[in-house]
Amino acid sequence: ETGYFTYDPGFTATASCQSAISYIDGDKGVLLHRGYPIDELAEHSDYMEVCYLLLNGELPTAEQKAGFVDTVTRHTMLHDQMNYFFRGFRRDAHPMAIMVGVVGAMSAFYHDSTDVDDPHQRMVASYRLVAKMPTIAAWAYKYSIGQPFIYPKNDLSYSERFLDMMFAVPAESYRVDPVLAKAMDRILILHADHEQNASTSTVRLAGSSGANPFACIAAGIASLWGPAHGGANEAVLRMLNEIGTVDRVDECVKRAKDKDDPFRLMGFGHRVYKNYDPRAKVMQQTCHEVLDQLGIKDDPLLEIAMKLEKVALEDDYFVDKKLYPNVDFYSGIILKAMGFPMEMFTVLFALARTVGWVAQWNEMIQDPHQKIGRPRQLYTGPAQHPYVPIHKRD
Ligand code: SDX
Repeated sequence: ETGYFTYDPGFTATASCQSAISYIDGDKGVLLHRGYPIDELAEHSDYMEVCYLLLNGELPTAEQKAGFVDTVTRHTMLHDQMNYFFRGFRRDAHPMAIMVGVVGAMSAFYHDSTDVDDPHQRMVASYRLVAKMPTIAAWAYKYSIGQPFIYPKNDLSYSERFLDMMFAVPAESYRVDPVLAKAMDRILILHADHEQNASTSTVRLAGSSGANPFACIAAGIASLWGPAHGGANEAVLRMLNEIGTVDRVDECVKRAKDKDDPFRLMGFGHRVYKNYDPRAKVMQQTCHEVLDQLGIKDDPLLEIAMKLEKVALEDDYFVDKKLYPNVDFYSGIILKAMGFPMEMFTVLFALARTVGWVAQWNEMIQDPHQKIGRPRQLYTGPAQHPYVPIHKRD
């Protein structure tokens, strides 16, 4: 009944590319960034150092790190006219919609760093994206709650500066809690890069046509937004709130196994990991540490999540399908405890992942053999046949 191929529901397209940035062993639950295990980076490094590693291929010396941080710090401000760009949105616009719009608009404000064939312009665009994402993210939040924008304070660290722009208000003095700054930095590390996931593949495909880097990153943000991808962290919290109490966990795990029930365990499963996502392990440990340091005892959402994980990992459906918690399962609980609204969770994922997108974009652009991405298909439509005039159609 078709022309050439019969539809195959099991067919999955794999955009293939070569990359030296991140490595995942899905069966063993291993993630390396330029060869360094993610749990060691989360334990011993900081986000700026991981950014340098992803962009440059090696951990920096103290001098290299200081120079990198200094350059990023000097790019944190936005072109003042971008202020007005935010004001074009409704106050209730989802901050991810603002991120897609404002980051895409950067190509109009920073057109002196859009020539992808110019190594200097590529470098400036890379610095601008890593440096300005926290400002754009924080201002998207401030705009949504009707508070004035807080300008970046360049005497603060990357994570401190972001938290200050998020939560400071002009009328009061605000000091960033070091517990929150450390947790923020670790969460950013855990989301920095992840091989050829949907949004990174989107950035690579957009970049392969020679589109400017700001437009490519905006495309990546759009792809990340989906609940099956970066939007899962927001969806996990909505799920935990829907479950409501630990007593309802068993019933909900049962629903998640029912193909006819739309209820899915968000934060569970992964295209590549068929073992525990190594980031989820660190995230769970960080969750306990942060709640403890913030004096939050018996957080009901954490209790539900822990029960959910226990029940699912003892259930044949999840064991047989190798469904384990992924990076999104615990992150929302920490972010909520830190004061972030759910709508900002995926924005934080995009903020953290920008360095991974930029590193992968640079790697693709600098590959002398790279060509425009052009995935092919298996055609399952009708065979060729002649045009039928409308008066002869029944
Ligand atoms: C991220 O790719 C990346 O690296 C992404 C990411 C990154 O850092 O960039 O790691 C970030 O996106 C993590 C994933 C966040 N998404 C969620 O947590 C949403 C909930 N998870 C699912 O929707 C799902 O697991 C996906 C989308 C992540 C993967 O879906 P697939 O491709 O269907 O997974 P699969 O092929 O391994 O599924 C095997 C089976 C399927 O059942 P069958 O068709 O074989 O009968 O398991 C089922 C799936 O339907 N399944 C689930 C499930 N996830 C998969 N059943 C119930 N609950 C789930 N969460």
